[in-house]
Amino acid sequence: MNTIEDTLRNALPPNATIADVWRVRPAPGTATLRVRPTRPGDFAAIRELQRATYPAIAPWTEEQLAGQVAAFPEGQMVAEMDGRVIGASASLVVMWDDYAVDHTWKGITGDGTFATHDPAGRTLYGAEVVVDRHRRGNGVGRALYQARRQLCQRLNLRRIIAAGRLPGYRDVKDVMSPELYAMRVVWGDIPDPVLRFQLSQGFHYCGVIHNYLPEDAPSCGHAALIVWLNPRHAPPRPAAFAGKAAA
Ligand SMILES: CC(C)(COP(=O)(O)OP(=O)(O)OC[C@H]1O[C@@H](n2cnc3c(N)ncnc32)[C@H](O)[C@@H]1OP(=O)(O)O)[C@@H](O)C(=O)NCCC(=O)NCCS
Repeated sequence: MNTIEDTLRNALPPNATIADVWRVRPAPGTATLRVRPTRPGDFAAIRELQRATYPAIAPWTEEQLAGQVAAFPEGQMVAEMDGRVIGASASLVVMWDDYAVDHTWKGITGDGTFATHDPAGRTLYGAEVVVDRHRRGNGVGRALYQARRQLCQRLNLRRIIAAGRLPGYRDVKDVMSPELYAMRVVWGDIPDPVLRFQLSQGFHYCGVIHNYLPEDAPSCGHAALIVWLNPRHAPPRPAAFAGKAAA
């Protein structure tokens, strides 16, 4: 039987360098992961992912999903492998100053319809990312987050902000505050699956939002506010320079 090394050696041209490894086609029997825009035909699969992941929370309705795609098609993405939807992410653009002091998931997403999407805003807001629980730990979430960062850069937005669930908090709620829980995740003492994932994607932890999503019982309704700053964000030119050639 061929080892992985044999498969790679056979697939590479003679005298290949390490850089060529990244250009090798997937080995037979393995599938390619693709992130693409969400289509109405994906709604049932997205609802199924949510149902399996958050059994106590109602999945988005077809109307909410249609509203999201209508409001901001570029922000809605699915991860597909072998023709099957195995992950999804949903984002909208907001004027962050309107929400910065205090916000809830319901308020900032227009109750999941993205009626709050504001193309004049400078902040991409992450409303959801979910991966099939049998496919976690294989880079699907990373691919969805990478696509979200690329979108942020393509639209020249200033940052991505999200409020991440804290699903391990309920188990320790009697012995520590959500703030201490989140800090202990940041310090590396607690392996919370969501905040650890987000930190690994270059996000910074900003603090805890209380009662962000009351239905989220494992997080006791709380969430960790996180931000990723777009390093390529170019602020608009001051009006005084508009129309003048760059020196
Ligand atoms: C959070 C979630 C989207 C991550 O997706 P995933 O496909 O398992 O993540 P990946 O395999 O792409 O992992 C990406 C990185 O995060 C890290 N990571 C993922 N899960 C982790 C965990 N449980 N503990 C520590 N690190 C973790 C990986 O090490 C990886 O690091 P790398 O990029 O340096 O290799 C997935 O666990 C999920 O769907 N959770 C339930 C839904 C949910 O709560 N979503 C958040 C809404 S706010």
